[in-house]
Amino acid sequence: MRSQVAIVGAGPAGMFLGHLLRAAGIDAVILERHDRPYVEGRVRAGVLEQITVDLLERLGLGARMRREGLVHTGTNIAHDGEMFRIDMHALTGSSIMVYGQQEVMKDLFDAAEKTGPKIIFNAEGVTPHDIETDRPFVTWRVGGADFRLDCDFVVGCDGYHGVSRTCIPPSVLKVFERVYPFGWLGVLAEVPPANHELIYCNHERGFALASMRSPTRSRYYLQCALDERIEDWSDDRFWDELCTRLGPEAGAQVVRGPSFEKSIAPLRTFVAEPMRHGRLFLAGDAAHIVPPTGAKGLNLAVSDIIMLSEALEEFYRDHSAAGIDGYSARALARVWKAERFSWWLTGLTHRFPETGPLERRLQTAELDYIRTSRAAQTTLAENYVGLPLLPVRAPSPTELA
Ligand code: APR
Ligand code: PHB
Repeated sequence: MRSQVAIVGAGPAGMFLGHLLRAAGIDAVILERHDRPYVEGRVRAGVLEQITVDLLERLGLGARMRREGLVHTGTNIAHDGEMFRIDMHALTGSSIMVYGQQEVMKDLFDAAEKTGPKIIFNAEGVTPHDIETDRPFVTWRVGGADFRLDCDFVVGCDGYHGVSRTCIPPSVLKVFERVYPFGWLGVLAEVPPANHELIYCNHERGFALASMRSPTRSRYYLQCALDERIEDWSDDRFWDELCTRLGPEAGAQVVRGPSFEKSIAPLRTFVAEPMRHGRLFLAGDAAHIVPPTGAKGLNLAVSDIIMLSEALEEFYRDHSAAGIDGYSARALARVWKAERFSWWLTGLTHRFPETGPLERRLQTAELDYIRTSRAAQTTLAENYVGLPLLPVRAPSPTELA
């Protein structure tokens, strides 16, 4: 088999890339270890930045999102029972779209069934070869039969546990990693959300987040210990703890109901550099993980993919390697800013083992500063709605003044 590009992984990164390349007339095959219901069934965040909304529209896949997605012009921060709103739209001119990753995946897979790109599910033992040459290839097995795909480029969109990153020699790969000393206990329930917008909550018992998937489906999270057992969290215990943390006002708006999904996720900051080695590129979670605070994971995969597809288009259209040579540095510049924001928002809103009275006072002071400063709110808002894709020229001191 032959295609111009081999994509490993049919998560959001692989699927968006496959569709973008197809739209540009570049043929790609996606190799996915699992089947469609598995990939589509994973519950992940549900906040889309404008770049992600725009990309779905550009691919002609925005109709359901426009109908069912919820545009949020602001977000809320609660702190020990008090709540304030950040008007993202007034501060930045941009909003976010609440539309679950599962819905995005459904739209991408449905469209692929009609128009391509070609996806090979249940591909076992996917292995990239000869990525340091200009004739790389990928091998895999399905149902005991061996297959080979010859290509010009391999793109590793295979997430944190994928095989692609391991193809970069350890002498080349630099890894930066922090695992946080707590997890998020997440619950989905078929109940109306406590608020029409999200609430990020710093409480002395730990962080809480009130989010949603639709006007009738809520998504809530509680910071929890890493060794916490799901079985110890009855629905009643979850709702009680959530209401305590959200405080009397927001807590009173929580509608309780049976949960239909409950899971604990770890939090990690992780970046692998470079995002290109020879004819192999990394994109999305294969190259970087953010803690979920701020919901940057999916959007960061999208910004990688936009940059990479531009670079590959330039390669095939203009016979220029400038784009692919610049991909890693360009992508990493934005990745690190999103990593910084997610790390910062996590630090501001969570209780750490070392959080004593002094650290609490510092968190309180910073939250109060954000509540009362337009500059601080603008900083938060412009990161939350998503930084521009292109590096912005640094203003001169006189322009800044
Ligand atoms: N061979 C083939 N496919 C693989 C392999 C492999 N060796 N290893 C992993 N995969 C597949 C996984 O089954 C998964 O479907 O790669 C896909 C990776 O998808 P994600 O982990 O979702 O990564 P990505 O597409 O980069 O998504 C970025 O979306 O899912 C969220 O948390 C994620 O927010 C992040 C964003
Ligand atoms: C979610 O709805 O799952 C969600 C929303 C915002 C976040 C993280 C997760 O910051």
